[in-house]
Amino acid sequence: MFSRRRFFTALSAPLWVPLASAGISTNYHFTLGVASGCPRSSSVVLWTRLAPDPSIGGGMPEGAVEVRYRVCSDSAMRNTILDGLVRTDESKAHSIHVTAKGLEPGREYWYQFYFGEDDSPIGRTRTTDPNADSVKLAFANCQHYETNFYAAYKDLVQWNPDAIIHLGDYIYEGAKHALGKHQLKLKNSTVAYEIVRQHDGPEAATLYQYRNRHALYKGDPQLQAAHAAAPWIVSLDDHEVDNNWAGEFPEDPKKQTPLEFAIRKRAALQAFYEHMPIERPVLLNGVNADLPLYDEFEMGPASVSMLDTRQYRSQPPCGQGFPSEEACEEMHDPNLTMTGKTQENWLLERIKRSESPFNIIAQQSWFAPFNYGSEEGDRFNMDQWDGYPVQRQKLINAFDHSTSESIVMSGDWHCAAAMGIHKDPTNSKTARVAHNFAATSISSLCPWLPVVQNAKNQNPHVDYIGEDQRGYIRCEVSKKRAITSFRTVHNPKDPHSHSTTEMQYNISSS
Ligand SMILES: [Fe+2]
Repeated sequence: MFSRRRFFTALSAPLWVPLASAGISTNYHFTLGVASGCPRSSSVVLWTRLAPDPSIGGGMPEGAVEVRYRVCSDSAMRNTILDGLVRTDESKAHSIHVTAKGLEPGREYWYQFYFGEDDSPIGRTRTTDPNADSVKLAFANCQHYETNFYAAYKDLVQWNPDAIIHLGDYIYEGAKHALGKHQLKLKNSTVAYEIVRQHDGPEAATLYQYRNRHALYKGDPQLQAAHAAAPWIVSLDDHEVDNNWAGEFPEDPKKQTPLEFAIRKRAALQAFYEHMPIERPVLLNGVNADLPLYDEFEMGPASVSMLDTRQYRSQPPCGQGFPSEEACEEMHDPNLTMTGKTQENWLLERIKRSESPFNIIAQQSWFAPFNYGSEEGDRFNMDQWDGYPVQRQKLINAFDHSTSESIVMSGDWHCAAAMGIHKDPTNSKTARVAHNFAATSISSLCPWLPVVQNAKNQNPHVDYIGEDQRGYIRCEVSKKRAITSFRTVHNPKDPHSHSTTEMQYNISSS
């Protein structure tokens, strides 16, 4: 068993003395746990953050420090594969991102960080194997801290997935609500809900506030356990920054100028980087920030494309209303994009070249159309792909021509759904060329569910709309089939509640 004391006596002291040792808190430094991510066949990113006082900016004194890490081939941390030092400072909130290289494909590894007298929890990770016969992927999204606990993650960890893919809304930026029962008044109904635990303050807008919000979420023991159980692949949606933002446009431009929003977005993206096991930091161009997140992962029979449909998105056509207030001609503008041109070209090329049995497109919003309209006309949610039908059709054409079976995974809407993607997506009599599965939410509410359920029958390509349940998606992909299971939590107000499979789909490879 590794002994830190033995280690300290065995090495020259100056190497292990923090560069800014004065004033460091004696509190435990690894309060936010550990994580791994961006799994490749020979590498994985390891993450932690030194935060002895996580609710007030972390509690580390200014200055650079060095943190030791080890990667082992066994869970008891006896057989060391990598042993190194990494430096960090307040410019990245004393977060650590280490790319552990030289690993073998399709293998489990364990890792741990050491700082001062503190050892971090031990994390388990796994490299990808492009030649694997099968892969187990879990898809999670939308984990509002206040509205439910994270029992879904308990079940997810027990499944022991090869990777956890988070589709966004990892944090919610909104202000703290009072504990207890509340009522939400909608157009034609009232929805009851309960606040079971609280955010830390007002709506986040500064780097300090976003850091504290991430730290609050990362303090959850089940979320920490999920990070320590498997590598994560992450992107972001709207609530990591501001509800329904798109590119350079905030939800409500009357409340923030373009410059104020650019500064706010830069802060939100920086805090996101500091709390995620990702490879690439925020790129700055003046006040404008870009966090490179869209990425590709080859996992045996699954070729996974993780999209970012927020940072490069055009402003939604016809406003933010849900459903849209009136028939919207602007949505047919061919220049409207969810991904930006560069990401679109990358994705189209990947779909075209893929020789995998399955293309898994992991992204944020519902992809298949969903018409909320009546005899008076069509009505859509413009914050989803329905606001961008010209670009959607380009991807559908690519799915149609691909030799792989394409599955689009969605989050965002807090309501589980299984939908066919047809050659003409608005006509279910045309050939089905792909599948769209939408996970519900880990914990976020779905007060608009009755509106969705009422519209199901006028959307014949929609096979399944879930009940008001929290959960996540499991997808077990082999060369011959992809089995997608909708897992739902029995009582999300109980952090230890169990989960079961609500619905399952079995898709054969082409
Ligand atoms: Fe959400």
